[in-house]
Parts: sequence; C-alpha cells; structure tokens
Amino acid sequence: MLGVCYYPEHWPESMWAQDAKEMRELGLRYVRIGEFAWSRIEANEGAYTFEWLDRAIETLANAGLEVIMCTPTATPPKWLIDKYPDILPVDINTGTTRGFGSRRHYDFSSKNYFREAMRISEVLAKRYGEHPAICGWQTDNEIACHDTTHSGSVAAKAAFQAWCKARYQSIDKLNSEWGTVFWSMEYQNFEQIELPILAVTETHPAHQLAYRRFSSDQVISFHNRMIEIIRQYAPNRFVTHNFIPMVDTQTDNYALAENLDFVSYDNYPLGRSDLFFADKPAEEFKPYMRTGHPDFASYDFDQSRGISKKNFWIMEQQPGPVNWAHHNPRPEKGMVRLWSWQAFAHGADCVCYFRWRQAPFAQEQMHAGVKRNDNSKAAAWAEIEQMRDELTTVNFSIEAPVQARVAIISGTVNQWVSEIERQGDSYNHQKTEFSYYSALRQLGLAVDFISTDSDFEPYDLIIAPCLPIVDDTFIKKCQQASAHFVFGPRSGSKTDELSLAPNLPPGKLQTLLPIKVLSTETIRPDCNEQMFYQGNTFESRCWREELSVPSGATIVASYHDDTPAVVRKGKTTYVASLTCDTFLISLFESLANECAIPNIRLPKDMRIVHRGDIAYVFNYASYPQEFPDQNMGTFILGQAQLNAFDVAVIKINKT
Ligand code: GAL
Repeated sequence: MLGVCYYPEHWPESMWAQDAKEMRELGLRYVRIGEFAWSRIEANEGAYTFEWLDRAIETLANAGLEVIMCTPTATPPKWLIDKYPDILPVDINTGTTRGFGSRRHYDFSSKNYFREAMRISEVLAKRYGEHPAICGWQTDNEIACHDTTHSGSVAAKAAFQAWCKARYQSIDKLNSEWGTVFWSMEYQNFEQIELPILAVTETHPAHQLAYRRFSSDQVISFHNRMIEIIRQYAPNRFVTHNFIPMVDTQTDNYALAENLDFVSYDNYPLGRSDLFFADKPAEEFKPYMRTGHPDFASYDFDQSRGISKKNFWIMEQQPGPVNWAHHNPRPEKGMVRLWSWQAFAHGADCVCYFRWRQAPFAQEQMHAGVKRNDNSKAAAWAEIEQMRDELTTVNFSIEAPVQARVAIISGTVNQWVSEIERQGDSYNHQKTEFSYYSALRQLGLAVDFISTDSDFEPYDLIIAPCLPIVDDTFIKKCQQASAHFVFGPRSGSKTDELSLAPNLPPGKLQTLLPIKVLSTETIRPDCNEQMFYQGNTFESRCWREELSVPSGATIVASYHDDTPAVVRKGKTTYVASLTCDTFLISLFESLANECAIPNIRLPKDMRIVHRGDIAYVFNYASYPQEFPDQNMGTFILGQAQLNAFDVAVIKINKT
C-alpha cells in the first residue's frame, strides 16, 4: 500500500481535485493531512474554520483516497503562545526560552499546553472521528524532534520535584539512592531539587538519569492522553504516530508506542546518514552518499517493528534531496524504489511519500516532493509508478510476517547511561548498537529489536550490545531461556540509580558468567590495538575492560597483551571491548552456526531479508552484483544478477 503527505492549505482549492485524481493514478491509497494546520483550523481562540478542511477531505475521498487525520499539536499558533507564554520550552543548554517561529515550540510540562493540546485534539476528534473518509489518526508530529523532550522551565522543575517525591517517597531515600553526600549535594526537601542543567561542571549522574526518566514520562502521559481522546470519538479507526529514529526521542519508545495500533516511522536515509556518518572519512562515506548505508534504514525499520511487536508504516519517505542535513545530496536513480521495497521487506504495511508537491515558500522550499512546485513530475514519480506496478506483480501481502531467530536487546535507558557517563569521547551508544546490527545483517540474519521484558522464547541468539542496568527478573529469564546470550561492554555495570555494581561489573550478570571487570579504559578512536580470535587478528578499540576470569570460563579472544577480551561460559558470551566489524561478523557467524541459524556471507553492499515465504535482495552498490544463493527459489522480480541500486524478489522453494 502506498500513500502521500498532503497540505491542502498550501495550495489553491482549484488544484485539489486534480491532485487527488493524480494521486489515485499513481497508485496511492492513503493521504495524510492536517498535522500543521492549527492556525487555519482555529485562527482565533474558539473561532473554528472547518469548512475548507471538510471540502479537502471530501475532494480526496471522492477520488477514492483514504485520509489519515493528524492532531495539529506540533505547531501551536501565535495567538495561543501570546496568551500562554509558558507553553514555550526552555533550552537546557542555555536557559533561554525557545521562541515562536518554527515548530515543536512547546513544553511537555506546561499545564496550559497540555490542556490546549487536548482541547484541539478533542475538537477535531469529535468532528472527524466517525467521518467515513478518515481511516485513521496520527498523533502530533515527530514527538521529541528538534530536541524537545527536555525543557528547563519553571513548570518542568515543579513537575520534576513532584515526580521525585512520587518515586522516592522520602528525601532521605533520594539522598541515599543517588549518593548526594558526594560534593555536599544533600537535599533537605524535594522543593530544593533543581533540574540537572546549567551547573558549573557535570551534574550528578543519578540526578540526570532521574531527569531523563521524568522527561520521558511527561512525553508519554501527554501522548497517551491524546490517544485516549481520539479513541473516545473515533471508534474503529487506527491511531499511529510518526516516529523519528528511536535514539533521538530521548523517551522510552516501547512505552510511547504501547497504546498505538501500530508505529509509523519517517524514513530519510540520506539526511539521517549525513548526520550519523558525519565523522567518517570521505572514502568510507562517499559510496553511500546518495544511497545511505545499506543497514541504516533497516536499523530503524527493525526498531519500528520491535517497539510495537507489529508491522509498521512509513509515514514519510524521502523522495529526493531534503533541506535539513549538513549536506543534502540527490538520491541515486532507483533509490526511492529500493528504500520503499526495503521498508516493505522489513515489515512495513504502507509507504507514504513526503510530500506531494514541493512547497515554493517557507523553510522547506528546497525539500523535494513527488511533484515540483510548478506541478511537473519530479524524479520520484516514475519510481513510485514502478512500485505501484511491482507490488501487484509480486502480489505483495501485508499478512506475511518477518520472522527472526536473532534479537538485539535495546532500550532508551541503556542509551541514557552511556550518554550521561561518557568516560571519554569515543563511546557512542548508537554507533555501538549499529555496528552489532550491521554485522548481523551482513550475514543475512533477520533481527528483532526487543526489550528486557520481551518474550525470549522465539530466539536462538540474543545480543545486548550495551545493557548497563539489569535486574533479577532479567537474569532469571536468561537462565530459563534456551538462547545463547552475547553481552557487549558496560553490560551489568550499574545499579538502577547509576552507581557502580557493588560486586563489580558486570554486576548481576556474574550469575551467568562469573567474571569481574577490574578496570576500564577508553582510548582515542585512531589508537586501535590488536585482538586475537580463532587464529585471526582483529581490532580492539575505544572502550576496553580488564577482566578477571575464574576457572570454568573460557577465554574466546585476547587483547594484544594476551589478556582476556572475550569470555564465554555455557550459553553466555561477554565481549569486553569495542571491536571492529570483521570481528563481530566472525563471532556472530560462529554463534549462528552453533545455534543452527542459516546465514550467508553476503557480497559487500548486498542485503537480504525474508518476509513470509518471500526473500527480498537489495544491491546498494553502484555496480552489478550476483546474489550467491541461486537455488533459494524462483525470482518473481529481477534476477540473480542485480543491477546497481536494484531489488530482486524471490519466492522461496518449499522444502
Ligand atoms: C520530517 C517532518 C516533516 C518534514 C520533513 C522534511 O521530519 O515530519 O514535517 O519537515 O521532515 O524532511
């Protein structure tokens, strides 16, 4: 299924009917509207103007399109801000108010905004909840984008104090759990607690972790209330939200997704790659400049599937150059099609392109659309037409599941710990997690992202690239599971309040593998050292732990000085260092073989993923490449020799 994001309020009404007709001709079924339209819906307090929106919906519906309606809460209008200036958030790095003039200028702790956002959501839900043309709802727009989860406002401080009181009950308990005796930070009552921002040097890590947990809870309660309101008036309609990359929400994504029908994700592979790989040397970056890294979009797709344990939608798909990264290249010809197929292969049920027509005005005038601002067809058009036809050729079914026997344990709290306690510049949570993921994908393995609370039963190999805080329930689940577990450095190292594990890291994991981390060093990324594994030489880099290994555990790999780097006991492996890709690939290949999980060393920049009994093969390379396993099944799209930036679809042979 395909769709598009459309802004009827940006175009003369005389264009709407033709737009809608062309959307249908292009094979689009869904059209998302309304997420920034507050000032046109309510130009002044209580003065609603719905007639234009009614007509827009009718025009789209008459063409046979189904409409996704959004709450417009990402852009509170000027009159509302002027009436309630406390809606504006406060920058935690400078203490200054973040002003009106762009979007997402609201504070999750502003009681005025909470009330007003829910009011406008209710007004819309009441009016359109049962409208036959509206099939579903999107809450807000890209919650947390532009670093808006945290605010340093007076309202945030008061709400944080109340949150601390509810969590710790007594100030003595807070003092002792945080360890505020250090640097004379003890509090006498909850009203004394500041936000952990704008201090002279680093603030207390437990204080920071509490503030992040609190801010995440604020986002979730705002979002949950909005979902509740929509559901009250919009029976039998889906409710979704368009997520930014999970690492950027600074929110517990599993909790944020919990009450949605499914998760949507906004896929901008080039913009995101430009930001994520900004530190890569040109020779590594350039091959992917116009494609994105082969694993980068999938990494977000698999997380989108993971946080809701369901298929997902792409609510916004990049159709050409964007306007907001450091550099904004054009996609290679074929990439819009490839990214769309890649999303479907990883569990998307629908791909919507952002946006129908390039806007001639305002901040995003340099952002491509499916059509240009003179209404001519832009480069993506032909590729979307091709998608329309190929979805039919392949008889694509959204019923087919992605089934993985390998899982990565991921969660925002792990990210928070490694962001709060940096211990040097060279540890980056997302890069670490991504390198583990990419190694698995280079072996053709399907990967689920799961939380510590998930069911471990479906998996044979469970990998935690970084899991600093673990509890007894988790340990028990690991003991009962049949999977092999791999833990990356830092795992088990902290208590729930971000203190060192009393029995030394890896703390409670010692029940599974009785090693101790005696010390930790971090080193510059250009000062790698050797690591030895199965007779081969690899790299140890950036983060390195010194281990004491009792008898009974096996040393699997060693550092340059012959001390233990990777240790295993039974079905638990602990990797004490950050390493290179080739080491991770070798380790995971050997564990996958041991667990009898089929895997394949794919040619560079080729990837495969299975959905149901169909395999999707992608060639990210700028040259043709041959898919190595030609007996896998029958090609129903493309052939074993894939062109540059091409896709092949294989119906798997039944065995
Ligand atoms: C998304 C956002 C859209 C638009 C787009 C541009 O993050 O939801 O409204 O700004 O980026 O790429």
